[in-house]
Amino acid sequence: MKVLAIETSCDETAIAIVEAEGDEQSAQFRVLGNALLSQIEIHKEYGGVFPALAKREHAKNLVPILEAALEEAELLHEDTQAIPEETREKIVKLLEREPGLEEQFLEFVSECEAPEIDVIAVTTGPGLEPALWVGINFAKALALLWNKPLVAVNHMEGHILAALLSEEKRGEEFSISNLQFPILALLISGGHTELVLMEEWLSYKLIGQTRDDAAGEAFDKVARMLSLPYPGGPEISKLAEELREAGEASEFTLPRPMLHDATCDFSFAGLKTAVLNLLKTRADITARERQHLAREFEDAVADVLWKKSARALEDTGAQTLVLGGGVSANTHIRREFAHKMKVEHPGVALRLPSPALTTDNAIMIALAGFYRARRQDFAADIRANGNRSLSS
Ligand code: KG4
Ligand code: ZN
Repeated sequence: MKVLAIETSCDETAIAIVEAEGDEQSAQFRVLGNALLSQIEIHKEYGGVFPALAKREHAKNLVPILEAALEEAELLHEDTQAIPEETREKIVKLLEREPGLEEQFLEFVSECEAPEIDVIAVTTGPGLEPALWVGINFAKALALLWNKPLVAVNHMEGHILAALLSEEKRGEEFSISNLQFPILALLISGGHTELVLMEEWLSYKLIGQTRDDAAGEAFDKVARMLSLPYPGGPEISKLAEELREAGEASEFTLPRPMLHDATCDFSFAGLKTAVLNLLKTRADITARERQHLAREFEDAVADVLWKKSARALEDTGAQTLVLGGGVSANTHIRREFAHKMKVEHPGVALRLPSPALTTDNAIMIALAGFYRARRQDFAADIRANGNRSLSS
């Protein structure tokens, strides 16, 4: 099955074409085409993602990204296509709210053959609704034109599946197989921090979640307080690593919110406030202090994430722990989890996403699209749902 997947939930416009075969026990994947355009540079100015701007950028970039992905997959064949008037009208209706997209779209599709793909998968949530809608309407227009079924993918399911992927042949072939259930997923991104249990394939139970900020959001907010650019995670990580490499401990102490509380829930707002209060006590922060604060903040986040995951492993008896979402790119968190799993839970498998697949991409959406399509989970009229949960 060839899946064309579209991701526009936040600030990455991404389209991937993945060939997949196998079943839920063992599946093999080959990435045929993968095009991604990050808007980070544009949002940097605002210190975070600005939804109206994200939507405009997605609309501007979807056609060139589609062209690049099809080209890489060798699925782009030039040919003049006559688009039936009725179809054209429907496409215009779908795309007219995005200035410029409709003309760009019609021009492109009228000059190429329908590609040999079997299904179109698109992220419908969670994420920024205006951004999600651009991808959804684009997917609907393609599905209509090329007469392909549509799958509505949950972005967080994509993150989990990306982390379960093993590389078979460098950067080309992947598989998902030999999974030990139950699987516990720690999802840590800009909008989410949750522990989810998969007792059976693709069925989820929420074990714990943040009561306020997401882990990535805390990284981004603290980075902003330290006058570091957006996204803050990689910036804080860099500073903290410098101090670790120098073998220096942090001179600051920050709280580990809810560390000893009996639930698997998280809270990061207090940690953020503690950093703010600390900064208020000094007029100017030196480069050295910034490093020390970055390290202590990162240590505190890693401690809390680990303790809650360990508690959830004990509570659920999970046999696999998987980390997903942008924050799982964090070097310190990855190292800490790898070490602590070996020492404290040697019988449980740890799966970490490859660094290239930690942050948002369309390959992960294609994986979810494949499994959902196998279950005939098709939908013609799909909608954006900014708060979509894993159980819907
Ligand atoms: O999953 P993702 O790409 O987008 C969402 O779905 O939210 O996650 C983005 C988040 C941002 O908050 C970013 O600061 C964080 O992931 N992030 C990191 C690192 N790389 C990205 N946080 C900590 N350390 C990193 N190396
Ligand atoms: Zn994400």
